[in-house]
Amino acid sequence: MNIVTCIAPVNIAVIKYWGKRDEFLILPTNDSISATLDTDQLHARTTVMISPDFKEDRIWLNGKEEDVKNARLQNCLKGIRKRSQLSGYTNDWKIHICSKNNFPTAAGLASSAAGYACLTAALAKLYKIEGDISIIARSGSGSACRSTIGGFVRWHMGSDKYGTDSLAKQIVPASHWPELRILVLVVSDEQKKVPSAIGMKRSMETSQLLQHRIMHVVPERANKMQRAIVEKDFKNFAQLTMKDSNQFHAVCLDTYPPCIYMNDISNSIINLVHSYNDAVNDVKVAYTFDAGPNATLYLLEKDVSAVIGVLDHFFPPSENVTIEYRRGLPVEGIKPSQGILEKLELQKYPPGQLRYMIYTKVGDGPKYLNNP
Ligand code: DP6
Repeated sequence: MNIVTCIAPVNIAVIKYWGKRDEFLILPTNDSISATLDTDQLHARTTVMISPDFKEDRIWLNGKEEDVKNARLQNCLKGIRKRSQLSGYTNDWKIHICSKNNFPTAAGLASSAAGYACLTAALAKLYKIEGDISIIARSGSGSACRSTIGGFVRWHMGSDKYGTDSLAKQIVPASHWPELRILVLVVSDEQKKVPSAIGMKRSMETSQLLQHRIMHVVPERANKMQRAIVEKDFKNFAQLTMKDSNQFHAVCLDTYPPCIYMNDISNSIINLVHSYNDAVNDVKVAYTFDAGPNATLYLLEKDVSAVIGVLDHFFPPSENVTIEYRRGLPVEGIKPSQGILEKLELQKYPPGQLRYMIYTKVGDGPKYLNNP
């Protein structure tokens, strides 16, 4: 029996992927850019085994057996077996896959990205595959291709109709911008209402704004974003991130029937971030939202304790919270400046509570664990 275990991270896009030019091959209509988060806080963990004793391929997700015939899973398995370096005999052994996330599935936290990146990375090691694996991860879930690599990553849409040039490449490693921090604000851990694949198909069919975005906005914006990352220009990075999140959700509303992913608390977070930046007369925090109500904030380490202080003030954990409210990296001296709080108090935010927050940073991509 051969066995490999791997953990792979979530990634959070700052230039969003939304729209496919080929649904089966999962080829996007624009480039996208993301940061790969540290595996310590949010990850999928996958063990893959092959054995001559297994009668059929099988998969368990978060402890429950799922249908191995799922088309996306089959895409990955076929892609792997095609590039396998194992001998023909071993290559025909059946496979068992066990995968679980340490965070809520399908709550807009890029769980499929971590899951398919992890599956692909584990299988690639088991089948001794070398070179790019992002193309294989992409065939499971588009955004997964970006989680196969650490640091800041660009998924190039490519132009080949078979998708041979639609792959992820690193812009810079995590070590390039070590001061950057991420706060994931979990507003809700319920399943999202419209899955991304269905939402983006509907947007392709009905949204004129999406066509404008693809043709006239993202090509230039993605290049500006790449430059901001290379130059560690937080202000530009933050402004582009917020604008791109807002345009993506505008596209979702322009879709018919609309896809409404954010809720009142999400909107309050947007208002709070803008008011905070106004109050400090700078751009210190950026928000971004995927296909769900949870916010991801990008900020610099030196501003973390002040920002958490403001969040605790306006979105206090509810009294009967029994789970660990703040998870991840340690934070010291949480204290919002009194002057800033007074300015922010003048704005009336509707009361809202967060389920929990996760404090993390940019990470190095998938990691292999030792098997016994
Ligand atoms: C809003 O990668 O989940 O998170 O390719 O159909 O699996 P499929 O979609 P998926 O879409 C992610 C959309 C997004 C934006 C992003 O991550 O770029």
